[in-house]
Amino acid sequence: MNTSVIGILHPGHMGAAIAAQFVANGHTVLWCPDGRSAATAHRADQAGLHPVPLVEFLRQSRLVLSICSPAAAEDVATDVAHLEYNGIYVDANAISPVRMHRITARLTEAGAEVIDGCIFGAPPGGHPPARLYLAGPESARRRVADLLTGTLAEPVHLGEQLGQASAVKMAFACYQKASRALAALAHALADDLDVTEALLAEAERMPRDILANRDYLPSVASRAWRWAPEMREVADTLRAHQLPVDLALATAEVLQRWHDNSPVPTDSPTAALRRLHGSNHQER
Ligand SMILES: NC(=O)c1ccc[n+]([C@@H]2O[C@H](COP(=O)([O-])OP(=O)(O)OC[C@H]3O[C@@H](n4cnc5c(N)ncnc54)[C@H](OP(=O)(O)O)[C@@H]3O)[C@@H](O)[C@H]2O)c1
Repeated sequence: MNTSVIGILHPGHMGAAIAAQFVANGHTVLWCPDGRSAATAHRADQAGLHPVPLVEFLRQSRLVLSICSPAAAEDVATDVAHLEYNGIYVDANAISPVRMHRITARLTEAGAEVIDGCIFGAPPGGHPPARLYLAGPESARRRVADLLTGTLAEPVHLGEQLGQASAVKMAFACYQKASRALAALAHALADDLDVTEALLAEAERMPRDILANRDYLPSVASRAWRWAPEMREVADTLRAHQLPVDLALATAEVLQRWHDNSPVPTDSPTAALRRLHGSNHQER
């Protein structure tokens, strides 16, 4: 394999671990210390990365990966576009497809070739293994995948359509992040009510394939009429224990409107949910 110069913006936990995979493959990896913390500098150093100012970083790198924070992704891309970077730019952040398209437009105008990416799994070496989804022009995707050959970061090709990697990340995160927050809330409530042991016993028995089991969704729709008031009871209980009620009330609201807008039992649950967007939020 030919060695390359690759740039990482920025070496956080994930970025540094991915960068280390490139280094292990014999590539030179650059990073930009401007504005970054001592923790990032330490990770970069441990991963064997070379510090250079942004102008020099973009001049040398033929491939740049943006792996930072969703809140910073667009500003990072804009800074790169302002400096007329014209190599391959992979945005691997958890951002919306709309933001991804804006970033693509800006960078393409500056002369770069853009790949829409996203990362699943733990930083390489952890579990589950990291998977880097790639969507965009095939030759650029192949280039990124080649550079990762034999490493602990597995490339996954999603085709030519930019926005698809961001889309799969958004669909997954919609469930994964909310369910983690709900689990924390459930445990806070159980601790306060002194029923943690019983909660854990029931948790062990519950289905583990909630997101994978799409066929169960009609069942949710048919119970929405009953689950909405149950979630309002949950909200009352959370409130009584000075815990945040927002997620419980929002779930009750969606379930109620899902029921109110789905008079046809055979209706597809996903079609019914789509119709809810923009329907009236009623005070209950
Ligand atoms: N960690 C994981 O297990 C995991 C799993 C899947 C996907 N990812 C993806 O990986 C990306 C990064 O996650 P991470 O875990 O590596 O995060 P992290 O450890 O918090 O690192 C974030 C990096 O971005 C930099 N950064 C923060 N704010 C910035 C700003 N305003 N402008 C420029 N740089 C900024 C940080 O630098 P300073 O702190 O030095 O400012 C740091 O180097 C995310 O998009 C996430 O979706 C991570």
